[in-house]
Amino acid sequence: MNLYHPHRMRIDEITDETPDTRTFKLTFQEPTVRDAFQFSAGQFGEYSVFGEGESTFCIASPPTRKGYIECSFRGVGKVTQAMRRLGVGDTLGFRGPYGNTFPIDRMKGHSVVFVAGGIALPPVRCVIWNVLDLRSEFKDVTIIYGAKSVSDLVYKRELAEWASRPDVKLWQTVDPGGQTPDWKGEVGLIPKIVEKAAPSGEDAFAVVCGPPVMIKYTLPVLSKLGFADDHIYTTLENRMKCGLGKCGRCNIGQVYVCKDGPVFTLAQIKQLPPEF
Ligand code: FES
Repeated sequence: MNLYHPHRMRIDEITDETPDTRTFKLTFQEPTVRDAFQFSAGQFGEYSVFGEGESTFCIASPPTRKGYIECSFRGVGKVTQAMRRLGVGDTLGFRGPYGNTFPIDRMKGHSVVFVAGGIALPPVRCVIWNVLDLRSEFKDVTIIYGAKSVSDLVYKRELAEWASRPDVKLWQTVDPGGQTPDWKGEVGLIPKIVEKAAPSGEDAFAVVCGPPVMIKYTLPVLSKLGFADDHIYTTLENRMKCGLGKCGRCNIGQVYVCKDGPVFTLAQIKQLPPEF
């Protein structure tokens, strides 16, 4: 079979998360593909609009929920703008799943801390729901999520659900000036909120995704809290095109993000060449 041949998926639901971020719930049109499809948290796909090209996104729904996948995207390029013109019942192409995964089994029996900024919540959301769907197998679950402003927070219904769960500690924050009069969360940049939340790094893993500057200033805070470099995971899903290790667009030195990643530990990222 042609490696680049996409499967046809039907858009079953559309949710507007923010003014520019949208979520599609998708199901495979061929029942045999739908029944056989499997993936793990952290993997990504190539999504295509026929005649417009492909775009790379993580699978934002967890593998513990079968029969469908979800992806969240901003309409910022040719393909994603074409995706925004599609409606419920329309068809989208999908190739995947590709890439490595977050080590859910390794995290079992430990606490997990999730730190995400802005539109980087989708890959983290996949892991969060994977962990919450198996909640009894993990210790403390802490979620720290921030965006520029209240209107930029994605998955608001799920944030409300996590906030109401006694088995989840949720910290939400917006940048100074981004709050509304009724905002009850924190105001401040994510590294500061991680410092304030101060989750213990002992016996714990961290999953961190966000803009490079957020990651840069959050990692030293996590190190200070006792998180080991090989217990801090992030995903580098940008820069990808073919997803198959063939186009050479995603490499950082000898490392191919699409095949060796997109999930890396901080210990691995420290080995990457300095241009990263
Ligand atoms: S995306 Fe083409 S080689 Fe990695």
